[in-house]
Parts: sequence; C-alpha cells; structure tokens
Amino acid sequence: ADDDTPPAPRRTQDRVAEAAAVRTASSEPPPLPGEFRNEPDTDPALASNRRWWEEHRDSDGGAALHATHLTDSDEVDAVVGRARAASAGWRDAGAEHRGRMLLRAADIMGARRGEFLSVMADEVGKTPDQSDPEVSEAIDFLRYYALRAQDLDRVEGAEFAPDSVVLITPPWNFPVAIPTGSTVAALAAGASAIHKPSSPTPRCSALIIECLHQAGVPEDVLQLVTTDEREVGRALVSHPHVDRVILTGSSETASLFRSFRTDLQIAAETSGKNALVITPSADRDLAVADLVTSAFGHAGQKCSAASLAILVGSTADSQRFRDQLVDAASSLIVGWPTVGPDGAQRTHSHAASMGPLTVDPEDKLLQALTTLEPGEEWLLEPERLDDTGRLWSPGIKTGVAPGSHFHLTEVFGPVLGIMRASSLEEAIDMQNAVDFGLTGGIHSLDAAEVETWLDRVEAGNVYVNRGITGAIVQRQPFGGWKKSSVGLGSKAGGPRYLMQFGTWHDAGPAD
Ligand code: ALA
Repeated sequence: ADDDTPPAPRRTQDRVAEAAAVRTASSEPPPLPGEFRNEPDTDPALASNRRWWEEHRDSDGGAALHATHLTDSDEVDAVVGRARAASAGWRDAGAEHRGRMLLRAADIMGARRGEFLSVMADEVGKTPDQSDPEVSEAIDFLRYYALRAQDLDRVEGAEFAPDSVVLITPPWNFPVAIPTGSTVAALAAGASAIHKPSSPTPRCSALIIECLHQAGVPEDVLQLVTTDEREVGRALVSHPHVDRVILTGSSETASLFRSFRTDLQIAAETSGKNALVITPSADRDLAVADLVTSAFGHAGQKCSAASLAILVGSTADSQRFRDQLVDAASSLIVGWPTVGPDGAQRTHSHAASMGPLTVDPEDKLLQALTTLEPGEEWLLEPERLDDTGRLWSPGIKTGVAPGSHFHLTEVFGPVLGIMRASSLEEAIDMQNAVDFGLTGGIHSLDAAEVETWLDRVEAGNVYVNRGITGAIVQRQPFGGWKKSSVGLGSKAGGPRYLMQFGTWHDAGPAD
C-alpha cells in the first residue's frame, strides 16, 4: 500500500483470526510499544464475530479452578512466605521485563475472550453488551500498567521501592476488569500478589491468573487462594508481611479490614450513590438513553451506576420525558444470558440486555425493590420475574425526597429514583448531600450550567453529556472522593496509580 492508504480500522478486527494469531506467535514476549491504545470491543456488525459469539455463549467456558484452598489460618504463613521470597527476583528483573510479560498476558487474554464471556455469564449473569467491554478494559489495564511501570524508574531525585507482598481482594460485580487491574497494578509495580477472589467469581479470577501464568509470571509471584473461613481471610489481611491490601468493595468491608490491623496500608475503592442531573437545556433523547444504560446496565450492580436522576425545572414536569424514560426502561430485554449448568427453567434469552442479580437481594436492595417511602410513587414498578428471586425487571420511582433513605443509601440493583429540583443549584446540593463521591453526570447543552456544575460537584469521575458508567482506561482514570475511597491518592487506569504500591526514597545528590 502507498503512504496515503489509511490504516485498517481496528474495530473491524476478526476475533477468530486474532485467536489463531496468538496461538502461532513466538514464545518471545512482545516489545513495549511507544504508546498505549485502547483495545476495541467486539464489533457485532462482523458476521465472523457473531458466529464466534454463538460458539462461546452456551459453552461452560474456561479454566478449572487451580487455587490453593486454605482451611486454616496457619496455612497463611506459607502462602505469604512464598510471595515474599519470590518478590526480590520479580522486582530486580526490572520494569521492562515485567511489562513485556504483562503485554503477553494481554494478548493471551484477547485470544481467550470467548472463555471470559462465557464464565462471566455463568458466574454473575453478565450479558455480552456488558461482558465484552469488560474484557477490553482488563486488556487495557494490562497494556497500560505495563507501560506505566517504566515511569517508576524515571522520577528524578527519587527512588521507588515496591511493596513486597500485596493482597488483592476484588469484587464480584466486575469480576474480570477490576481483579485484573488491581492484580496487574501490584505486579507491574514490582510486588508479588496474592489474589483472593470474591466468593461468587472464583473461575473468573482463575482464568485471569491462568493467563498471567501462561504469559510467564512465576507461580509464587502470583498466587490464587480461596477460603470459606472468615478467620483465614482475617489472617491474610492482618498478616505482618502483607504490605498492602487492594480492596474494591463496600465501605463496611474497608472498615472491617482496618479493624483487623491498625497500621494496615489499604487502597480501597468503595461504595457510591451516584446521580445524573438533567436540565431543561439537555438533549432529552440522549439523556434518556444514557440514564437507562447507567441505571440498568448489569442490573444496576455497579458502584458507578446512576441510582438517582435529578431533574431540573421543566424537565421534572415533562410528561413526554417520563413516557420516554418508561418506554426505554421497559424495552430492555431481561433474562438470564445462559441456560445455566443446571438447565434450570429460566427466562433465558440470548438477546438479554439486562441480566439477573448475581446474589440474592437482601435488606437494602429488597426494600428498594419492594417498598416506597413517603411521597414516592412507582413510575415503573419492578417485578420479580422468576422463582429464583434474582431476576427483576427495572424499577423507577418518582418523588424521592431529599434526606430520605433512598436518596442517601447505596442499593446496588435495578432501581432508579427520581428527584425534582427547582434550580441547578438545588440539584447540585442534592447530588452532594450523599456521603459518597464516586461518579456523577450532567446532561445540559448550556455551557454556563456545565461550568457551574463542574465547579461544585463532589465526585471523582464526572461526565458531561455521557452516561456515568464505563470509564475507559487512560482516558477516564477511575476513582472517588469522600466515602467512596479509602487510602487511594491516584485513580485506577491513570498515570500515577502504580506509584502508590511502594515507598519513595530520596535518591541523594546526583554524581
Ligand atoms: N470502572 C467502572 C465504571 O466506570 C466501575 O463503570
């Protein structure tokens, strides 16, 4: 091709060809590229990609569980000891060696994308519109941190000493992207990682760890451990040779971990109660679409989800807006993405765009799905769709009052509450009244309104005229304020994230 030929758009890549290319690649890890590029999601417009997905969606997918199952706190010493003994070699191998290994793991993960989709459907009920971008995000973390690790040796006047042992305790709601991101951050920085999966998602974690081991990360540098015993979990978190814990979970879990050990170094991404503000100047079609995706994607089980829509002025009174919102939410196809290994008679649909709850709804969520507080009314009442108790249609309640339980509490499920504000200022007050500060959004085509909102909103990730979930690595580093974050100074998927996993020393005078 001559120089004027534009490069082929990467979005049209063919998943089958891609997997074959990785299988035949040489065993030499790839060199580090000059710049980072986000991994594209699977393009369903390509027939070969549709065929590829057909093959994977009903298979029982990927890895067997090769984990060290701990039954007694005494066994924790051996695991931590192995991690610690292996850490010096991993650190001294250097950032380039580690980075190249992580790049190879990214390629392997890309080639095994179908297995990830299948295991995610099985373990958490993720539909492909959610699980496919999640694999892309995990690959992005691998490639991005592989490159950022190189920066750690380049800070003038300072020397970085990585942690030796980092414990990773990821969540189940993003069982691939977040566990990969946290684990790879520790590995890229030069630490050994002990990965303890969230209990609903051991096979997602096993598949991630398998890709990293396959790429050449030594077994003692990265260990997968499971346990059913709370005491073992406690012994791991409070072990004196665990230098740091990376947690993504609830604020309550972060407090519990801290109660185990007063000097615990913890980097925790915790809860959110997030709102999207919609003003009368908004493009309402776009606002409705973004609201529905942000509220009901993965059945609302995201720390980043829109749980509140704060409608300003005439938007709050618009019947057309309400009708449009109800139409959009009710047109979501709710179902289990797979038949399931037990062949259960479920509302099973390959076209499902909203899947089930991953765990049985309890307390706060069940209350939000089934009851109204004073002043509230159902605009769309959620329905329990089968006898598992886990499949619910989306719910929308209006009249959520400032200071009410629903206004201030994270519910983590498919319920959206609508609040009415007479002015943008009042809307921002309502948005900021919550203890958390993770994501927030505004839909407005008025530049002055957007500026006012950006000046005042208290949230780590703020989005203008876009949904409020689905942060993209490097473009939208992810992390919260207020009670949404504990011990984290820099955001995941951002340029300074790795710098937190170690200590910095003065390098002394230059020669
Ligand atoms: N990083 C995830 C999102 O942005 C939580 O939705």
